[in-house]
Amino acid sequence: MDTVIAPSLLSADFGNLARDVEMVNCSDAGWFHLDIMDGVFVPNISYGFPVVRAMARQARKPLDAHLMIVEPDRYLALFKEAGVEWLSVHYEACPHLHRTVQHIHDLGMKAGVALNPHTPITLLEDIVCDLDYVVLMSVNPGFGGQSFIEHSFDKLSRLKEMCLSKGSKALIEIDGGVNAENAGALARAGADILVAGSAVFKASSPQKMIRDILIAARSAREAVR
Ligand code: DX5
Ligand code: ZN
Repeated sequence: MDTVIAPSLLSADFGNLARDVEMVNCSDAGWFHLDIMDGVFVPNISYGFPVVRAMARQARKPLDAHLMIVEPDRYLALFKEAGVEWLSVHYEACPHLHRTVQHIHDLGMKAGVALNPHTPITLLEDIVCDLDYVVLMSVNPGFGGQSFIEHSFDKLSRLKEMCLSKGSKALIEIDGGVNAENAGALARAGADILVAGSAVFKASSPQKMIRDILIAARSAREAVR
């Protein structure tokens, strides 16, 4: 699979949301990344269903929603109804993770689990074969525009190894501080999906930045083939 670039709309201009969604539609991005924050699991509140539905009406690429909320089970069906195809919940927010993953699948969505920077990947050993993707947080969740945590490379390599050894087909998404400089190394280490918020939306040409990140990832992957 070619690397997927998923711009995070958290860094979009919410006064010009339609313009920014259309920019992603017309770019080389593969998905939209939607950050849902509740002010409890993370110290920030982002946006809720009216905004997700408005984005979904206009988006012509798959929606990947990243739930940074407590008790995500209460809202899974609403995300499906809103048009979300890929849905991730946090390991740290789900005491009955297997049941939550089953619920996401029963609703007809792809299921992902996100890990905070301090959460060991080994905690996924007994569920990784049931997942469609794993989201490695390379910043502490809650805000866009933070610096990439370098230790994420080590976690990424170990997660890749774990997936291979267990025969898991889970894709690996890296979320936080991704830019055109680190995209190549991330793709080489096994990242399938790269989320980028501020790097894209703060660039003078967001579409060119999406392309630059994609080209960096592609050439790094081709170099190891
Ligand atoms: C952080 C979010 C990320 C964030 C990425 O809590 O999950 O998706 O929007 O933003 P950047 O690319 O600016 O780190
Ligand atoms: Zn995110």
